[in-house]
Amino acid sequence: MEHFAYRNFELCCERVSLPALAADVGTPAYVYSKAALLESLLAYERAFAGVPHVVCYAVKANSNLGVLGTLAKAGAGADIASGGELYRALRAGIPPKKILFAGPGKTREEMRDALKADILMFNVESAGELRVLDAVAREMGVRAPVALRVNPDVDPQTHPYIATGLKSAKFGVPLAEAVATYEEAARLSGLEVVGVQMHIGSQLTRTAPWADAVARLAALVRTLRERTIDIRVVDVGGGLGIRYREETPPTHAEYATVLLPVLRELGVTVLVEPGRSIAGNAGVLLTRVLYRKDAGAKRFVIVDAAMNDLIRPALYDAWHEIRPVDEARLGGPVETVDVVGPVCESGDFLAKDRRLAAAEEGDLLAVMSAGAYGFAMSSNYNTRPRAVEVLVDGSGYTIVRRRETYEDLVAGETIL
Ligand code: LLP
Repeated sequence: MEHFAYRNFELCCERVSLPALAADVGTPAYVYSKAALLESLLAYERAFAGVPHVVCYAVKANSNLGVLGTLAKAGAGADIASGGELYRALRAGIPPKKILFAGPGKTREEMRDALKADILMFNVESAGELRVLDAVAREMGVRAPVALRVNPDVDPQTHPYIATGLKSAKFGVPLAEAVATYEEAARLSGLEVVGVQMHIGSQLTRTAPWADAVARLAALVRTLRERTIDIRVVDVGGGLGIRYREETPPTHAEYATVLLPVLRELGVTVLVEPGRSIAGNAGVLLTRVLYRKDAGAKRFVIVDAAMNDLIRPALYDAWHEIRPVDEARLGGPVETVDVVGPVCESGDFLAKDRRLAAAEEGDLLAVMSAGAYGFAMSSNYNTRPRAVEVLVDGSGYTIVRRRETYEDLVAGETIL
């Protein structure tokens, strides 16, 4: 996370001092680095430059319009998982012909909206969904471009909640049923079969599962071509891991090197759907220490960010580095603490039994690697307004989402 570094003993995002930022916008705050976002996107562009390709950023990772707009201007497409994400992607200026629509439970209304927008492709996950999409498209007098999401049954070796490519997962059409499902799709006049898609999981740190999976997909593409079903697009999904702690994920180039020989031989347009590897290390959650508390065997640091702001530790036991914003703290004593929030649940923690430089009340802490699945998964639990989001560019910044107000939280509710 080289765009978050100490300067003059203060942790900065690019050239913006986080203490100065916190004084301006308050805490908790999500702070994103524009340079970091663009660097990762461009690394994908470079890695796949040898084949026709579109990098369809997985909007679910961080769907802020400021973030999406930045990526859109740099040429990104979008992988969307709902009608809401379609709305955001279009609002942010992502060209419809670079948008693909994924997810196992698309409604008719969402399908209609996406057909109206004339998107690049639907990634269809079941025979039932194929038939509904066919009917919706025929009603509208159009043909829906489709890829089947195929479940290649490989073990991505990641957390079970974010592993999707095993046959026990709810995702995709099993490889063994793929040919029959494609043949059905090819017979439906509201559909135009264009591609095949996979997404085997998230936070992958080894390339072997992709090598396995793409080989299986390539064999399927050849079988389909023999049956005159012309597959022109292969979408390899997302999932490239990032370094949270000691992981050593492949680089963008190493990742592409595993996939490209097979894809080049097929002569297809390649789509990739990265989310975490674009936004994850481009953001931190900035929080202030409210209290210190010694309770029997445990020492707690109570901060103003909570599980409603960042649920990954509670939900996945995820490990996020926590850094003092004041670098001088690093020279002081170290202690073992739980960093917890104000929410009334024991699951409300950002770090457990963590060796940290001792933090005093009023100190700022940065929860690192929080740019993906951070704000996007936040909630208003305990009627906590969601945090402000800030996009830093060099020595300036923009509030890309203002902090919610109490008024925002009750808007739409009724007292009888
Ligand atoms: N494509 C599809 C179809 C997906 O389901 C996902 C993520 C992606 C692309 C992007 O994957 P990425 O490049 O970000 O790994 N909330 C979890 C992660 C859930 C991932 C869901 N699908 C977390 O915080 O770790």
